[in-house]
Amino acid sequence: MKEMRKPVVPSFAESRRLQARSHTVIPGGAHTYAKGDDQFPEEAPGFIERGKGCHVWDVDGNEFTEYGMGLRSVTLGHAFEPVVEAAYKQMQLGVNFSRPARIEVDLAEAMLGLIDGADMVKFAKNGSDVTTAAVKLARAYTDRNLIAICGDQPFFSTDDWFIGSTEMNAGIPQAIIEMTLKFRYNDIEDLKNLFDQHPNQIACVVMEAEAATPSAPGYLAKVKELCESRGALLIFDEMITGFRWHLGGAQKFHGVTPHLSTFGKAMANGFALAALMGKREIMRLGGLEHDQSRVFLLSTTHGAETHALAASLETIKTYRERNVVEFLWQQGKRLRDRVNRSIAENRLEGFFQLIGQPCNLVFETRDQDRSRSQPFRTLFMQELIRRGIIAPSFVVSFSHSDADIDRTADAVYEAHQVYRKALDEGVAKYLGGRPVKPVNREYN
Ligand SMILES: Cc1ncc(COP(=O)(O)O)c(C=O)c1O
Repeated sequence: MKEMRKPVVPSFAESRRLQARSHTVIPGGAHTYAKGDDQFPEEAPGFIERGKGCHVWDVDGNEFTEYGMGLRSVTLGHAFEPVVEAAYKQMQLGVNFSRPARIEVDLAEAMLGLIDGADMVKFAKNGSDVTTAAVKLARAYTDRNLIAICGDQPFFSTDDWFIGSTEMNAGIPQAIIEMTLKFRYNDIEDLKNLFDQHPNQIACVVMEAEAATPSAPGYLAKVKELCESRGALLIFDEMITGFRWHLGGAQKFHGVTPHLSTFGKAMANGFALAALMGKREIMRLGGLEHDQSRVFLLSTTHGAETHALAASLETIKTYRERNVVEFLWQQGKRLRDRVNRSIAENRLEGFFQLIGQPCNLVFETRDQDRSRSQPFRTLFMQELIRRGIIAPSFVVSFSHSDADIDRTADAVYEAHQVYRKALDEGVAKYLGGRPVKPVNREYN
C-alpha cells in the first residue's frame, strides 16, 4: 500500500468573512441551493474568484481542480476562449432588441440539426422554465391535468408542479401537489399501474432518459409505446444528458425519440440558455398559425439574449470539430478505472461506489452498516479539498486533461485511505466539522 502524505489544509479566512456577509443578505447564503454551505464540508472554499479550464481559484487564492463545474453546465471549461470571444463579439452588437435578432433563427436551425425528432424549438434562460413549458404544452395538447414524473430522478424544475413532489414543499397548494404522480425507473409495470389508476387523466410522462441507473434494455421504447397507447406525451428532460451522452442527446444514444424534450446547462458552456424542442404538431400551439386555444409558451424578456445564443453556436461548433462527447466519455473512463482500483486496494467495496455513465460519474458513500452516509460523503469531500480537488461529483469536462485526472486519482487514493480508517475507528474522529445535508429536506 502507498504511504499516505500529510495534506495541506488551506486557509479560508476571506471565504469566512464573505460567508458572514452573504448569510445576512442572501437566504441560505447562495443564490443556488446546490452551491450552499450545507452542501460542502465546513473546511471548504466558500467563494470562487475565477476559473480557467477545470481549475478555479477561491477568494483566498487557493487553487483547486473542479468537477461538475457550474452544476454540470460548463462542459468545455471555465472561460473557454472561443466561446467567450463569440459571446463578447455578439455583445458589442447589442444583446436585446424590440424585434428578434437574426441569430435566434441561426441557433434554432443549429439545434434542430442536432436533435433528430424535433421540428421546432423555443429558447429560455433556465432549464426549469422549459421543462415547465413542456408540461403546460402537454396539458394543453392532451386536455388533461395529471403529470407522471420519474420518482427515482432528483430534479426537473424549480416550479410548483415538481417542487410540490419533494420534501421541501412549503408554500405549494395541496391541489397542485396532488396533480404530480411518481413512477419508478426501469419498472414498466409501475408506470402502467399509474395509467390504469388514472385513466385518460395523465397528460405527460416527464423523465431523464437515463440518470445514475443504467437504462434496462427496451425500457425507454416501452415507455414511449405506453404513452402513445394511453394518449399521453413523453417528455425527456435532457438538461444533464444533453451535450454529454451524445450530441443528439440521450434520445439519440438510446434510440428513442420523445414527443418533447428540454435542454439547458451545457448547451452554451455555462451561459444562461435553455431550449424546449419537439414535434411541430404540439409546438405550434404556442405559435400564431392555428385556430385552437393559444398556449402561452415561453415568452421572457431575456430568453433570447444574443450573446448566450452566440455562445451556444460556438459551443456546438467546438463539439462538432473536437469530438467533445467522445473526450468526456474517455476521461470519465480513465478516472473510473483509477478510482475503482483505489476502492479495491483500500477494501472499500460496498462502502464507496461510482455510479452513472463515465461522462456523468457520481459517487455513493456508505457507513460501517452499508447505509447511505452523509458524514462519509462529507469526509471524502473534505479529504479531497485538502488535496486540491472540489468534487461534489466526478463529472468531467473537455478541460480535464490526463494530468488532471491522474492527480485527482492520486488524491482519491489518499482520501480512500482516510475513509478506510474512519470505517474502522469512527467517522467523527476524522471529520473536521458538521456533515453535509441533502438539498430537498423539510427542515434545516
Ligand atoms: C435534470 C434537470 N432538469 C432540470 C433542471 C433545472 O434547470 P435550471 O436549474 O436551469 O432551471 C436541472 C437543474 O439542476 C436538472 O438537473
